[in-house]
Amino acid sequence: MREDAIQIAYIAAAVLFIFGLKGMSSPRTARRGIIWAGVGMLVATAITFATPEMGNFLWMTPALLIGGAVAYVAARRVAMTDMPQMVAIYNGMGGGAAALIAAAEFMRPETMSASFAVLGIAGALIGSVSFSGSMIAFAKLQGIIKKSFLFPGQNIVNLLVLAASVVLAVIIALQHTGTMGGNETLTLIAFFVVSLLYGVLMTLPIGGADMPVVISLYNALTGLAVGFEGYVLGNGALIIAGIVVGAAGTLLTQLMARAMNRSLGNVLFAGFGAAGGQELTDIEGTMKETSPDDAAITMAFGQKVIIVPGYGMAVAQAQHKVWELAKLLGERGIQVKFAIHPVAGRMPGHMNVLLAEAGVPYDMIFDLDEINGEFPTADAAIVIGANDVVNPAARDDPGSPIYGMPILDVDKAQQAFVIKRGRGAGFAGIENKLFYADNTRMVYGDAQEVASKLIAGVKKV
Ligand code: TAP
Repeated sequence: MREDAIQIAYIAAAVLFIFGLKGMSSPRTARRGIIWAGVGMLVATAITFATPEMGNFLWMTPALLIGGAVAYVAARRVAMTDMPQMVAIYNGMGGGAAALIAAAEFMRPETMSASFAVLGIAGALIGSVSFSGSMIAFAKLQGIIKKSFLFPGQNIVNLLVLAASVVLAVIIALQHTGTMGGNETLTLIAFFVVSLLYGVLMTLPIGGADMPVVISLYNALTGLAVGFEGYVLGNGALIIAGIVVGAAGTLLTQLMARAMNRSLGNVLFAGFGAAGGQELTDIEGTMKETSPDDAAITMAFGQKVIIVPGYGMAVAQAQHKVWELAKLLGERGIQVKFAIHPVAGRMPGHMNVLLAEAGVPYDMIFDLDEINGEFPTADAAIVIGANDVVNPAARDDPGSPIYGMPILDVDKAQQAFVIKRGRGAGFAGIENKLFYADNTRMVYGDAQEVASKLIAGVKKV
């Protein structure tokens, strides 16, 4: 009876996870989705305390309280631009937890069935790689590790380490099904050391710009590891949650790689960023500066303005000012639209979240496919702290490292204004021909300050 109630509670938690995830698929319902998933997690955690053979409450309770308090404070304090590294750390912890469950199971002396041994050790391998890889991803995004480590034959070394980890995993599985002898503890320790090492080696060479894709991949791997350990523990909620996270993470990884026009293999094994970009000397023309007042006049006398936000808007936290500007233009009868590139900023949906936070209505926000045809009819396109996502080299220059990535066709607008602080490159570290075009004017300065000046400028007209 009690056992049935526990299983029902776990299934209820899993259903809440699924509905939560569904809610997160749209900005309108995302907040609700997060609450549902959170309630699911609360149910799953609470019901675990009622499990009949559960003990160790003196360890579990402080661990939950301390972990919960640290996560609460960290999540409230984290800057929006630091969100990817926060996701990396939490993600890695999930993988590490799955690996620890496996470690505890394999430290028991009893033999286990083949399916338990195989899935348990596979989850341990995947979870360990996800844990150490995510920690390196965190350190890179946080600027603790500043370099990408590349050396000749790296992929072969990595492959050998992975092979060693798989061999040790097979030995452990054989030992625990009673098929093979040997010192089980020693094999287990060697297995974890090698698997953790593989996560480190696999992540070190990957360039910073690709880190969000890698984090998403580790997310998917963590899901898989948790699902496998759920099977070992006979816990339905873990199995369902793991599979849901694994599937969502896989889809997200693919979507991000596709939006950057890269294959996953290229992200993982190519050491992106080493390719170099277009030289300044290849680009004709000069960057032409204009004042916020002049830009404001062009916008105020136009009929249609498209705003293109990018990473710089997030850094400057300029979204509120930008929305104020858009409202002001709207009051003058000007049609204002926001154009969002799928990889603008540093994480999926980054710009949507910022604009939603500022209160921009969803019907003013358009995806790349919806808006690209409209640039030629826009009197002005204002680029606010975006760079790579509006770089025409991605469309026109087969030699460019970002060639093939779909871009927002800002260069096709009647007039483009680019707000940025100076000559700083975007994440891909390459020059941008848009900034030199005849119909582009640069408005230098911090995005928030310039947006304030544009507001003042429009008010003066
Ligand atoms: P970026 O290409 O990174 O360009 C941002 C620009 O903002 C910089 O050129 C910088 O120039 C400017 N900037 C920085 N701080 C500013 C401030 N306070 N005020 C005004 N401007 C400021 O941004 P993007 O166009 O959004 O492209 C995103 C890049 O990240 C792409 O390469 C994409 O592939 C990569 N990426 C994104 C994701 C996701 S999921 N979003 C995942 C992986 C990789 P100054 O220094 O001159 O100001």
